[in-house]
Amino acid sequence: MRHDAGNTLPTIKTMLKQDIFLCNLDDLDEQESIELSIEQRPLFAVRLNDNLYAYWNNCPHIGVPLNWMPGKFLDLDKAFIQCSSHGAIFGIDTGKCVAGPCVGDHLSRVELKQKDNNFYVAADQHLPSPPINLRAQALADLEDN
Ligand code: FES
Repeated sequence: MRHDAGNTLPTIKTMLKQDIFLCNLDDLDEQESIELSIEQRPLFAVRLNDNLYAYWNNCPHIGVPLNWMPGKFLDLDKAFIQCSSHGAIFGIDTGKCVAGPCVGDHLSRVELKQKDNNFYVAADQHLPSPPINLRAQALADLEDN
């Protein structure tokens, strides 16, 4: 599941000024994820044990998005978050890298607010830098040559 809140918001520089609806917990099955983009900053959340864990979609290894397909953030067993670039795996509930090139690092957690079964990206948190777009960089390099 994926949606983009960037077009409905006032310009946000570095601080999120309002809560943004993410999903109702009932919208997701266990170990299913949802994506959202806020001002070109993608994030995702995974339902686990009737809770929701959300992270900015930047791998701590080199700062690229973790997934190569929409909504695909987990390993085959759906036990860990897995980066599609070099295979790092992260705890769903902790965001800690437990294997791979950035072992010991953490995904950046997105602060959520819960009202009944509805989850919101909480206001008053800093937005990270947008992830590195390697494809756009490669195309720009080609144009320069
Ligand atoms: S970019 Fe994620 S493991 Fe390398």
